Amino acid sequence: MTLPQLLMSSLEKEISNISIQKLQKAYSVLSNNYRLNRKDMDQNFTLEEQRLSYIVARMPSTYETVCKVLTEINSENSEEIESILDIGAGPGTASWACCETFDTIKNITLVEYNADMALLGKKIAQNHPILKNANWIMQDILNSKLELTKADLVIASYSFNEIEDKNKEHILKFLLDKTNKYLVIVDPGTPESFKSIHFARKWFLENNTKIVAPCSHSQKCPAFEQQDWCHFYTRVQRTQLHKILKEGEKGYEDEKFSYIIVSKVATNSYESRIIRHPDIHSGHLKLNLCTSEGFETITYSKKNGAKYKKARKSDWGDRWEINNFEE
Ligand SMILES: C[S@@+](CC[C@H](N)C(=O)[O-])C[C@H]1O[C@@H](n2cnc3c(N)ncnc32)[C@H](O)[C@@H]1O
Repeated sequence: MTLPQLLMSSLEKEISNISIQKLQKAYSVLSNNYRLNRKDMDQNFTLEEQRLSYIVARMPSTYETVCKVLTEINSENSEEIESILDIGAGPGTASWACCETFDTIKNITLVEYNADMALLGKKIAQNHPILKNANWIMQDILNSKLELTKADLVIASYSFNEIEDKNKEHILKFLLDKTNKYLVIVDPGTPESFKSIHFARKWFLENNTKIVAPCSHSQKCPAFEQQDWCHFYTRVQRTQLHKILKEGEKGYEDEKFSYIIVSKVATNSYESRIIRHPDIHSGHLKLNLCTSEGFETITYSKKNGAKYKKARKSDWGDRWEINNFEE
């Protein structure tokens, strides 16, 4: 998957008057801050070159990550998504991904407290058929006077981990209250960010909220119990500019992410999820799974017929039926 052409051309237009050297320098500070998992990330967007380096270097990865995560809702295949509430929206990345995934969207509200970033997001989306009419709210999500209308899908993409720990429970309560159907939280696939996602999972379960993904069960999280971290990946094709900014030759990069989706509507159950790249050998393969019984490794060989064939096509992050197998 690549960025929609409309988004690509808007990004190219935005950076047409800035030197690559300036963007490279700003990107190197930005990526260093990400590595350090800093909480005061809004400082990253004070200067124009910082905002532009984000949209060029990070927007493609967060866009594709959100698209991948949203396939979990699409695979539920029952509920129409007409309204979106995008929290910590930055340049509107998650909303672009929502529009790409659901063709039923009518209303979008984006909350972003960095006004310059919000204005940039608005500008990038000025020719988008739905996003051009979106409602941008340039306020702190923690502002107690903030009034937001409920939405079918509420999403916090790469922003929940920027909320201070002491405010996380309040935000979860607030976001869940604003959710009609699904609430999605996506963060970087680091041990530190997973702790936030796990905190959210625990809070949702304590508050009787149904988890759709990535968990197939509501037992204790085996990854957390084993001091591991639950994360997934998506392959992002690098644009020429992306390569220059990242000073890398490879045509792609693997973006690691952690996430959680909860639901207020009926959802399908499934038995497990693949939590590593399938371990492929000649004539057989092993799937590492997260199940309600904990982590499990299952080997499939050619003699398992259709199930082996299906396992060959599976990938890290997919749902997997151990017993309820249908060809
Ligand atoms: C890493 S960026 C992610 C942007 C976008 N969601 C994406 O996926 O590309 C996090 C954004 O959240 C915003 N943010 C962080 N805390 C916020 C808060 N308390 N209220 C509103 N926006 C916030 C930051 O300004 C920043 O633009």
